[in-house]
Amino acid sequence: MWVVRHRYATFMAIVDTYRPADARAITAMYRRVFGQEASDANRLRWDWQYRRNPNCPPEGPQIWVAREGPTIIGQYATMPVRLMVNGQEISASWGMDVMVAPERQRQGLGEVLFRTWDRHVGASLGLGQSESSFHLFQKLHWPSVGPVPCLVKPLTRRALRRPNWPMPVNRFVSAVTLPFVRMVARVRPMTADVAPIRKFSGEFAALWERLAPKFAFIVRRDPQYLNWRFIEPPHVRYAVAALRRGGDAQGYAVYRHVWEPRGRVTLLVDFLADPDDEPGVLTLLRWVDREAREADSDKIRVFCMHEGFRRIMRRSGYFNVKSTAEFTAKINAIDVPPDFYEHTERWHVTWGDSDQDR
Ligand SMILES: CC(C)(COP(=O)(O)OP(=O)(O)OC[C@H]1O[C@@H](n2cnc3c(N)ncnc32)[C@H](O)[C@@H]1OP(=O)(O)O)[C@@H](O)C(=O)NCCC(=O)NCCS
Repeated sequence: MWVVRHRYATFMAIVDTYRPADARAITAMYRRVFGQEASDANRLRWDWQYRRNPNCPPEGPQIWVAREGPTIIGQYATMPVRLMVNGQEISASWGMDVMVAPERQRQGLGEVLFRTWDRHVGASLGLGQSESSFHLFQKLHWPSVGPVPCLVKPLTRRALRRPNWPMPVNRFVSAVTLPFVRMVARVRPMTADVAPIRKFSGEFAALWERLAPKFAFIVRRDPQYLNWRFIEPPHVRYAVAALRRGGDAQGYAVYRHVWEPRGRVTLLVDFLADPDDEPGVLTLLRWVDREAREADSDKIRVFCMHEGFRRIMRRSGYFNVKSTAEFTAKINAIDVPPDFYEHTERWHVTWGDSDQDR
């Protein structure tokens, strides 16, 4: 039982775990907080997102619910993952759909929900938060690592358009930058085999075991996780390509093409390869270039934390742009050095981590 005391409200709330009987009340609250469209989308995803996650604990989805008497007034729904931190594997959890009933917001309940979640997990992770949850993370003084850098590769003259610029300005910028875009976007040869796949097979388990020690921070990307995360979602369809040499899996890329207000974008949502294998990473990137061109995309966008990967991307025609993917990580299960959160050069975090790509 929590007595929540704030500047202008005191009330009693119980925070415990989700029960199937809560579903209807949580859906109603979701609709009030995020709107009808987001609520419908949430219902479409829910079973996959929570129950079918291979890391879902046997006792059920990792969702905390705040109750005031019989009424549900808040929830924190999270995505459990396995996380490798400096060679040690721990359980961790991405904070996702956190909400407080509108009449109870700004009265301290959000803080209670965040702290409850954090007490129960080996590491609490947040990516691409809303303004309110970003401020709440800051108020709690959790390490702020982000944002996860964003890079864009222009492919056509429309790539540099901005929705907030008037059309004549956009046309002028497109015309002036065209020779440069053509040079960056020219077709380059690939030096290994890349082919589309429909499923991550056992060979990706070996790839994971081989590559995991190369990263200081990375969510376990084994076939179980990858199939659940990128092959089975009911709400979004990804294309996946595997990089192979001599028949061995050496990497993969997950991407999709979307329409945005000023053009078509290919999102490189997730990928993995040996960061020291520059020809391999370049080959994967060139595959994505070809796919993007075939889909008539104006640009490719990727969020990528790892410095080595970003260096190769810049060599492949990607540029840094402002990132909106704020990132917070707090390791609880093991001790990490005091400067751990400052040295993110070998952290592999992409837009496909957490559930931001909806
Ligand atoms: C985010 C949310 C769960 C926080 O819950 P809450 O009960 O309102 O949070 P608290 O009262 O514990 O607030 C703690 C701190 O969070 C920050 N905060 C909360 N809401 C905020 C807002 N709307 N704008 C800016 N900061 C906010 C403030 O720093 C606040 O401290 P203060 O009240 O002393 O200034 C709640 O505001 C909510 O449901 N928001 C709408 C849904 C949403 O955006 N969810 C996040 C998706 S990532």
